[in-house]
Amino acid sequence: MEGRDRWESRTSFIMAAIGSAVGLGNVWRFPYIAYQGGGGAFLIPYFIALFTAGIPMLILEMGLGQRMQRAAPDAFGSIRPKLRWFGWWAAGLSAGIVIYYSTILSWSWVYLWHSINIDWGSNAEDFFMNQVLQRSEGPGHLGAPIWYLVIGMLLTWALIYLILRKGVKNVSKVVLITVPLPTLLLLILLIRGLTLPGAIEGIKFYLVPNFSKLKEPSIWLMAYGQIFFSLSLASGVMIAYGSFLGKKSEITNSAWITALANCGTSFFAGFAVFSMLGYLAHMQGLPVPDVTTSGTGLAFVAYPTAITKLPALNSIFGIIFFITLLSLGIDSAFALQEAFTTGFYDRWKLSHNRVTLIFVIIAFFISLIFTTSGGYYWFDIVDKWICDFGLVTVGLVQCIIIGYVYDIQEFRRYLNTISEISLGQWWVIALRYITPAVLLIILISNFVNEFRSTYNQYPRWATTLGGWGVLFFFAVLGYLLHRKSTSRL
Ligand code: PHE
Repeated sequence: MEGRDRWESRTSFIMAAIGSAVGLGNVWRFPYIAYQGGGGAFLIPYFIALFTAGIPMLILEMGLGQRMQRAAPDAFGSIRPKLRWFGWWAAGLSAGIVIYYSTILSWSWVYLWHSINIDWGSNAEDFFMNQVLQRSEGPGHLGAPIWYLVIGMLLTWALIYLILRKGVKNVSKVVLITVPLPTLLLLILLIRGLTLPGAIEGIKFYLVPNFSKLKEPSIWLMAYGQIFFSLSLASGVMIAYGSFLGKKSEITNSAWITALANCGTSFFAGFAVFSMLGYLAHMQGLPVPDVTTSGTGLAFVAYPTAITKLPALNSIFGIIFFITLLSLGIDSAFALQEAFTTGFYDRWKLSHNRVTLIFVIIAFFISLIFTTSGGYYWFDIVDKWICDFGLVTVGLVQCIIIGYVYDIQEFRRYLNTISEISLGQWWVIALRYITPAVLLIILISNFVNEFRSTYNQYPRWATTLGGWGVLFFFAVLGYLLHRKSTSRL
């Protein structure tokens, strides 16, 4: 039996945690959510969510993994054997995320290719929807997988396999490149963006708060959802990563560093994006809030448009941008996969390489759904449900388990014996009362809204299948794995 994988040093743990947190969520999701949430109006709930829910939960997850020395399934199983089911469910969601997350990476490969000749020309939205995705009229029209998207998927999964087959030792090395590189590339895009005409209007929209918007509950909802996704919470990822730490490793300071680095990167990426949006507004003679309606497609519509309109070196900037997306996404992707597969290692001591290979092959075939003409819609639905309903529910249950089933005060004292920053009562209050209350409200209001009108007006059968169905599938899978793991004890 091989020993448990270990981080080589504290730095490599922090780098890997940052690598998992900083991802497409910062460059793709944060800007479009912030844009939809009204720019400056969004930043206030965003930072409130970071301090009331994000950081306390990150300390909880890293600390739980470290203390139990197990990924989510067995970490919760050590609290109460029955809770292993819940741990498997959370870890299952991370498998679900990585399967759709790979879609964005596959698009990025395709765009990397198209950057060579700036194939999207002057109409990036049309190019994205009609030529690259060949989007059908609705989720009911699936069509066959599109060959170049399949190649993108193949490249993505092959890369994940090659990096992960040797375990976290390799992760430690890869993140030395994938963490600093995107930061540097973003800086280049930011400088370019800021020197474009109109940039300042975009930045104003980004920073100047519009207080009347704070009354809208949906803004708060989006802020908490984004913090969860961005910090890789409620998916077992940070528990798995914490479990590769030694018994004496420091927790709280590492969590603060990870959270601040992550949200700092989002904030920073926001400048790059909003300066480009300001430029687009200037070019089109529109106010910044009306410049694009691309929503989830922002990264593939607004950035390419901005790239086309650069005065020189367009194709180099295109290549730089899509390499940035790939390097940002890949370390989050393998963190997600590790959260799921480490559970198998913990329980059955299966070889890391074998589990990784089997997972990658199965995941590749499932992800082919997203390479079809109707795939875009399924991608959108699965993303919405796993984040808004899946992660939020797991986060809520996690707070209840730690706050009420586990001895949270004793856990706090334990963390204080090993950590550099001492945890005060605020942590207990946040996890016991504030976070669960807020999450409950988020969940209920999302739920009610969804029944009033389906998300993006998708047909009810599609959201039932791709949304509730997928969540139910992971709950059942979690239960089966739980049964299987207890029968071997
Ligand atoms: N935090 C990652 C990002 O921002 C995504 C992610 C979510 C990774 C959940 C792991 C778990 O892109």
